Amino acid sequence: MDWLKRKVALEALNWIEDGMTVGLGSGSTAELFLHNLKDKNIQGVASSKKTEKLARSLGIPLVETGKIDVTVDGTDVVDNSLTLIKGGGGSLVREKLVAYHADIYIVIGTKEKWKKTLHDETVPVEVLPFLHEGTKELLLSAGSYCSLRLDTNGYPFISDNGNFIYDCTNVKEVRAFHEKAVRLPGVVNTGVFLNLADVVLIGEDTGVRTER
Ligand code: 5RP
Repeated sequence: MDWLKRKVALEALNWIEDGMTVGLGSGSTAELFLHNLKDKNIQGVASSKKTEKLARSLGIPLVETGKIDVTVDGTDVVDNSLTLIKGGGGSLVREKLVAYHADIYIVIGTKEKWKKTLHDETVPVEVLPFLHEGTKELLLSAGSYCSLRLDTNGYPFISDNGNFIYDCTNVKEVRAFHEKAVRLPGVVNTGVFLNLADVVLIGEDTGVRTER
């Protein structure tokens, strides 16, 4: 699948012009895109500490600004209404910010990320550590059993914002769940990206498909 990731990462480069401020996504596909950027005269806004480190190592100048020309990021799932579920890597809150503040938000992914409709999905939710078990109960009442994400040592995974991530499984109505969850005290945000993606580039064996 790596060659398909490379293909979409390359295709996204067509949207980048010198002088632009580019929102830099997180995850393996977004990282391939970053490698393509190193010869461009742009400045980046990093959506995670990992992306920040990679950008610095590639010599991409970084800024923190809410005025972004184009953001390019990967996704875990996308459906034909261009709703995304993100956060597999735990960077969902900053990723949502760089998506939100971009004039154009481009999502890149390989063919297995595409689904006709979202159903029975796992939705990551970033929550404050304070009283997080209470927040978990509230998420259950919002419609899903959620389990605390652990790191490789069995400790709670800590996001770049110092928060926990709950993975909420078998979510039937993704949009409805998101709408309820974001209103709960203790929830920072969910990995559901509604009405944000402008363009989705999907790497297929025969080429790159564009959905808008
Ligand atoms: C991280 C994300 C990533 O964009 C998503 O997990 C896709 O990653 P990859 O390109 O490695 O499949 O949302 O929070």
